[in-house]
Amino acid sequence: MKYIFKILRYDPEKDEKPHFQEFIHEPCPADTVMEAMKDIRDQQDPTLSFRYSCREAICGSCAVVINGHTTLACLQSVAALGTTEIVIEPLPNLEIQKDLYVDMDPFWEALEKIEPYIHNEGEVPENGHEIDEAEMDKIYQFISCILCACCYSACPVASRDGRYLGPAALAKLYRLVQDPRDQRDYTSWRQVNAEDGVWGCDTVFKCNDVCPKEVRPADGILALRRKIFVSELKHIFKRKP
Ligand code: FES
Repeated sequence: MKYIFKILRYDPEKDEKPHFQEFIHEPCPADTVMEAMKDIRDQQDPTLSFRYSCREAICGSCAVVINGHTTLACLQSVAALGTTEIVIEPLPNLEIQKDLYVDMDPFWEALEKIEPYIHNEGEVPENGHEIDEAEMDKIYQFISCILCACCYSACPVASRDGRYLGPAALAKLYRLVQDPRDQRDYTSWRQVNAEDGVWGCDTVFKCNDVCPKEVRPADGILALRRKIFVSELKHIFKRKP
């Protein structure tokens, strides 16, 4: 069956503004949108630019907007879209560098601010750290994040405030401070107790809706708010004479 792929094109060196280009293509019945895009590039226009690597929903590099829904191109089957007209656009909230290829720097910079690694100077026990099941349950879903930026690009707060850390970074911080191996002190991550941190979230849950790995970043943000509330109380009582 023939499909019309309407793909947003933009080359800042040639184009005044982004525009759609149509490609007629006949994908194999089981093809993903990623496979269709690769065929279009290989057979019709080698200048079509987009990111991908693993093709297995692991690396997080192929996120785009397909028929208005933010997702991974390698995860979305063409047939499952239920239409022969497929519109593909780059992730919003991030500057287009070329076609579907966006500048991910704001996303990485937000992530860097929360120091996204376990803070623990101690020796690793001979049999590794043990984490009990109840603790693991609290963070398990957040470990599945592949940093694709779907949540960041769907977030209405990130779209209007470039300072906002965004759902992925805040959920990652929750995952880390909740991890019993992480020894960072509240004072070292207290900066997220701010409008551009956890209190910036509008709780519209777009991030939960679009995550292709079924992570619920907004749940992490709300849990972080509770953690901050408790930490602030402890801080106040500690200061009392
Ligand atoms: Fe790696 Fe799609 S190519 S997630």
